[in-house]
Amino acid sequence: ADGTVEIPVVVNVLYRTSAENISDAQIASQIATLNKDYGGTNADVTNIPAEFASVAAGDTKIRFRLDRVVRKSTTVRSWRTNDAMKKSSSKGQDAYQPASYFNIWVVGDMGGVLGYATFPESAGLWNDGVVIAAKYFGNTSSAPYNLGRTATHEVGHYLNLRHIWGDGNCATDYVDDTPTQQDKNFGKPTYPQYDLCGGVNRSIQFMNYMDYVDDAAMYMFSAGQKARMQAITSTSGPRAGLRV
Ligand code: ARG
Ligand code: ZN
Ligand code: CA
Repeated sequence: ADGTVEIPVVVNVLYRTSAENISDAQIASQIATLNKDYGGTNADVTNIPAEFASVAAGDTKIRFRLDRVVRKSTTVRSWRTNDAMKKSSSKGQDAYQPASYFNIWVVGDMGGVLGYATFPESAGLWNDGVVIAAKYFGNTSSAPYNLGRTATHEVGHYLNLRHIWGDGNCATDYVDDTPTQQDKNFGKPTYPQYDLCGGVNRSIQFMNYMDYVDDAAMYMFSAGQKARMQAITSTSGPRAGLRV
């Protein structure tokens, strides 16, 4: 009634080793983190600088509900970002009804890649969803990517968010309240950081989930990003099929 969309989630666990066959508790920790980050109830919202508090999304009104976990043993040792994990014909697991369920594939090693996602252009297709390497899924011991924010970031892409630097020097992410910045940021930058773009020096929003900083250094979406995600999941949007 308050317009919150609850997205049904299918977690496809593809494991070769027992460590890759992550526990139900680890899966639950990831769903809980997604709901906190998308609800604006993450403990570290208090770190948002006053300058950006007025444009912080707060509650995006998007939530996640674990519908089912599909587990499958595979002989694959290391995956590439080529969607092989999404097809049983290539030792992966086919998506479960991707037009109405958000599929996540949790895989073993991806050669250093934390995760990747499809954009809404792929809505409902066989490869639609997000892939995350097991050791970064949920609360893990893989610091500095140990807080489940790889999924927060990848789900942002699934819901039509671009990288905050627009994947180019001072490029656009099509969001007005994320200041234009020169490039991605890594690690744990100290606030403020300034970037010169088009002759204007701006304090950048490196603590946004759509930058590349450490899990502990990202803690906000902006109101403009919230609007993009809501448009995509609205009754007339490409991901309307996720609405129950
Ligand atoms: N490199 C990945 C991507 O571009 C994810 C980065 C996630 N960052 C993090 N702090 N977990 O989609
Ligand atoms: Zn990304
Ligand atoms: Ca922007």
